[in-house]
Amino acid sequence: MDTQNFFTSHICILFIIFTNLANRALSVNQKFQDCAPHDCGNGPNISYPFWILDEQESFCGYPRFGITCNEQNPVLKISNDEYIIKDIFYSNHSLLVANAAAYWDACPTPLHNVSLDRTPFNLSLYRSDFSIFYNCTSLPQYPTYGLDCASNGTTLHSLAVFHEKALDVNYPWEKRCQSLVDVPVHMLFGVNLTSLSQMNYTEILKMGFLLNWTAPNCSSCEKWWTLWIR
Ligand SMILES: *[C@@H]1O[C@H](CO)[C@@H](O)[C@H](O)[C@H]1NC(C)=O
Ligand SMILES: *[C@@H]1O[C@H](CO)[C@@H](O)[C@H](O)[C@H]1NC(C)=O
Ligand SMILES: *[C@@H]1O[C@H](CO)[C@@H](O)[C@H](O)[C@H]1NC(C)=O
Ligand SMILES: *[C@@H]1O[C@H](CO)[C@@H](O)[C@H](O)[C@H]1NC(C)=O
Ligand SMILES: *[C@@H]1O[C@H](CO)[C@@H](O)[C@H](O)[C@H]1NC(C)=O
Ligand SMILES: *[C@@H]1O[C@H](CO)[C@@H](O)[C@H](O)[C@H]1NC(C)=O
Ligand SMILES: *[C@@H]1O[C@H](CO)[C@@H](O)[C@H](O)[C@H]1NC(C)=O
Ligand SMILES: *[C@@H]1O[C@H](CO)[C@@H](O)[C@H](O)[C@H]1NC(C)=O
Ligand SMILES: *[C@@H]1O[C@H](CO)[C@@H](O)[C@H](O)[C@H]1NC(C)=O
Ligand SMILES: *[C@@H]1O[C@H](CO)[C@@H](O)[C@H](O)[C@H]1NC(C)=O
Repeated sequence: MDTQNFFTSHICILFIIFTNLANRALSVNQKFQDCAPHDCGNGPNISYPFWILDEQESFCGYPRFGITCNEQNPVLKISNDEYIIKDIFYSNHSLLVANAAAYWDACPTPLHNVSLDRTPFNLSLYRSDFSIFYNCTSLPQYPTYGLDCASNGTTLHSLAVFHEKALDVNYPWEKRCQSLVDVPVHMLFGVNLTSLSQMNYTEILKMGFLLNWTAPNCSSCEKWWTLWIR
C-alpha cells in the first residue's frame, strides 16, 4: 500500500466515524429539542416525566404521564376522568389538579370517587373530603353548599359538605339520598374558613387537590436529562 492510498483510506474511515458520531450527537440533540419543556398556553411547563401526547414523542416521558392540551389547558386523564393541571412541583414530585368539569360544565357533577388504582399517582396529605350528595329527599339541618343545578324543585336536592361525618346524626343520608361522591380538596393549614364558606360549590371544586407521583427509580438519568435540556 503506498502512502497516498494509506492516507486516503484512513481519512475516509476517520471521516465515516466522525460523521457517524456527529449524526448521533445531532439526533440526540434533536431528541432533547423535541423534549424541551413546553406549555399548553396556560398552566405550568410540561417536562419529564410528563410529556405532551400530540406534540412530543413518547420517549420524552413515561407512559401514564402523557398530557393533552385542551383549549390551552394541560389535561391529565386519570381513570377516564379529565383533570386540569393547575401546577406541577417537580422538586417534590407533586401536582395540583382539578376536575375539568368544574371549568367546562355549567353544572359539574362528578359521578364517581377519584380512583387512583393502577396509576402512578397517590393522594397527598393536606386535603379535606368534600362530599357531594345527589338527589336527596330532604335537606340536613346543617349549612351546606347547594347544587341548585342538580336539584329538582322541592323534591330532589343535591348538596355538598366538608367532612360528611360531621353531618347531623339525624340525617341518615343513606336513606335520603341516591348517591354520595367524595372529592378531595386541597387544604392548607390555617385556611380561611370565612372565605371558604363564602365560596360556591364550583369554586370549591376548582381549588383542586394535590397528587404525588412515584418516579421511576432513576434519579441519575433524571439529572442527566435535565442537564441536557438546559
Ligand atoms: C417555563 O420555562 C421557561 C424556560 O425555562 C421559563 O422562562 C418560564 O418562566 C416557565 N414558565 C412557567 C409557567 O414556569
Ligand atoms: C411541593 O412543593 C410545593 C411548593 O413548595 C408545595 O406547595 C406542595 O405542598 C409540596 N407538595 C407536597 C406533597 O408536599
Ligand atoms: C364513594 O366513596 C364513599 C365512601 O368511601 C362511598 O360511601 C360511596 O358510595 C362512593 N360513591 C360511589 C359513587 O361509588
Ligand atoms: C400509594 O400509597 C400507598 C400507601 O401509602 C402505597 O401502598 C402505594 O404503593 C402508593 N402508590 C403509588 C403509586 O405510589
Ligand atoms: C405521597 O403521599 C403519601 C401520603 O402523604 C405518602 O404516604 C407517600 O409516601 C407519598 N409518595 C411519594 C412518592 O412521595
Ligand atoms: C338524580 O335524579 C335525576 C332524575 O330526577 C336523574 O336524572 C339523575 O341521574 C340523578 N342523579 C344521580 C347522581 O343519581
Ligand atoms: C324533575 O322530576 C320530574 C318528576 O320526577 C321529572 O319529570 C323531571 O325530569 C325532573 N327534572 C330534572 C331536571 O331532573
Ligand atoms: C378571610 O378572607 C376574607 C376575604 O378574602 C378577608 O376579608 C378576611 O379578613 C380573612 N380572614 C382572616 C381571618 O384571615
Ligand atoms: C360561583 O361563583 C362564581 C364567582 O363568584 C360565579 O361566577 C359563578 O356563577 C358561581 N356559580 C354558581 C353556581 O353560583
Ligand atoms: C432506587 O434504587 C437504588 C439502587 O438501585 C436503591 O438503593 C433505592 O432505594 C431505590 N429507591 C427507591 C425509591 O426505590
